[in-house]
Amino acid sequence: MTHYKELGLVNSKELFRKAMEGKYAIPAFNFNNLEQLQAIIGACVETKSPVLLQVSSGARKYANQTLLKHLAKGAVDYARELGYPIPIVLHLDHGDTFELCKSCIESGFSSVMIDGSHLPYDKNAELTRQVVEYAHKYDVSVEGELGVLAGIEDEVSSAVTHYTRPEEVEDFVKKTGVDSLAISIGTSHGANKFKPEQCTRNADGVLVPPPLRFDILEEVERRIPGFPIVLHGASSVPPDLVKIINSNGGKLKDAVGIPEDQLRRAAASAVCKINIDSDGRLAMTAAVRKVFVDSPAEFDPRKYLGPARDQLKALYKHKIVNVLGSANKA
Ligand code: G3H
Ligand code: 13P
Ligand code: ZN
Repeated sequence: MTHYKELGLVNSKELFRKAMEGKYAIPAFNFNNLEQLQAIIGACVETKSPVLLQVSSGARKYANQTLLKHLAKGAVDYARELGYPIPIVLHLDHGDTFELCKSCIESGFSSVMIDGSHLPYDKNAELTRQVVEYAHKYDVSVEGELGVLAGIEDEVSSAVTHYTRPEEVEDFVKKTGVDSLAISIGTSHGANKFKPEQCTRNADGVLVPPPLRFDILEEVERRIPGFPIVLHGASSVPPDLVKIINSNGGKLKDAVGIPEDQLRRAAASAVCKINIDSDGRLAMTAAVRKVFVDSPAEFDPRKYLGPARDQLKALYKHKIVNVLGSANKA
């Protein structure tokens, strides 16, 4: 067993308490390779932001759990080397079994999500309670979920959104002992969050998605005041990145995300953690495609992964400063 404190990591409790008080949200950025990690730590150190490094079960398989442990420890040392030791949480994204959560806790994760949102309510509560009992022995934070987001991830997928039912949250939090709760208010995973027929078009012909259900968020806040809420599926799918991808051989059709002003509003509420993965994928893909088209003779991976890393870092800095409000909170 490697406890996260041995790696220099922290759990999310104190970070969420401060985020709630300060009316901002902590970024939760997914990673599975070196360049993504460099971009995340570089952006967070330069903006002095705390961060959750998120690993999905697919990312864990891709990157290898032993390497991930050392990368997380490396991230802590790297931040220090860059001149500002920011608080870093290593978080399991969308854990779907008790065994996976336990295994991550044993290999140095300081926070886990147990996503039982696809299960009937009682089964979700039971599984979440089981993970909490184990995790809290090691002072590891646990995120649960109520309500289902539309979209597709490796292990969990749903064609439709089931909004969180505010009347369930109090009981769920009490029964399970979770430290934070992901809710469904209209965000969704991936780069195609809404079908064109669900959207309107603005004067430039850009698809505008239906607004988030802030009424549900407010009712959740009323029922569990001061409790940290998490927003998944919070990429904005920037049209400029989609344009670069598509004008360099890509084929992303009807890509649409969550407008940043809505995320800013959410970050100022009880939402303490905002998950962003797809925007990072778009930033890297845009940069790589552009190098391949502009410089077809290049074959040194550093010549395309380097620009991808730079683009990613710029995107993360923008999110931290202009959307989440977590700059200078480390
Ligand atoms: O919400 C899920 C994340 O974007 C992770 O996606 O399962 O493809 O690694 P992944
Ligand atoms: P996006 O696909 O909107 O980036 O959401 C990521 C996420 O929720 C990870 O858990
Ligand atoms: Zn998610």
